[in-house]
Amino acid sequence: MKNRSYRRFYENVPIEHGTLRQLVDLARLSGSAANLQPLKYMLSSDSVINASIFPSLRWAGYLKDWDGPGVEERPSGYIIILGDQNITKSFGCDHGIAAQSILLGATELGLGGCMIGSIQREELRRDLEIPTHLEILLVIALGKPRESVKIEFVGQGSDVKYWRDEHDIHHVPKRPLDEIIIS
Ligand SMILES: Cc1cc2nc3c(=O)[nH]c(=O)nc-3n(C[C@H](O)[C@H](O)[C@H](O)COP(=O)(O)O)c2cc1C
Repeated sequence: MKNRSYRRFYENVPIEHGTLRQLVDLARLSGSAANLQPLKYMLSSDSVINASIFPSLRWAGYLKDWDGPGVEERPSGYIIILGDQNITKSFGCDHGIAAQSILLGATELGLGGCMIGSIQREELRRDLEIPTHLEILLVIALGKPRESVKIEFVGQGSDVKYWRDEHDIHHVPKRPLDEIIIS
């Protein structure tokens, strides 16, 4: 319940490099198809590197009037999940499982974050000098959340788009349990 996608943070609250390592250790112990463990990680808790990652990410596509977190509300850390193509060419859902383990661990530590799949991959590869055998799968933005997120129900036939209200609370519609359990 507490682990929501957070996109605005207290950027002045740093994340220790050791904390990012601790979170990747949860991913390390997570399930992996055929136990191949093909994922690799790049970590950043450094403001200069963070600033080079941020422009490659696309935030909250449904919020057309919002350009993403502003100065001082950007993530204080990132975990980039990479697929090692020297191990396998197909990563299945390993990176989703790893990302969820990381976010659940972050929530336990009083942090929060957002999985970002909408990435300017070539730009990020160039800026961070990511070797070509490592496929860029997901970026996890992390920080001390600076926003409230409220779960709503998706009404029948209605929209799945999240929205922000006049108090800047982020609302996320979820389909009801009886709709998704089909038998
Ligand atoms: C695989 C994946 C990719 C996502 N990519 C993005 C993204 O590129 N940008 C973004 O702002 N949110 C992204 N999200 C966050 C979703 O928008 C979010 O999970 C959804 O709105 C539901 O909110 P919740 O995570 O709080 O339940 C992604 C989530 C997943 C699982």
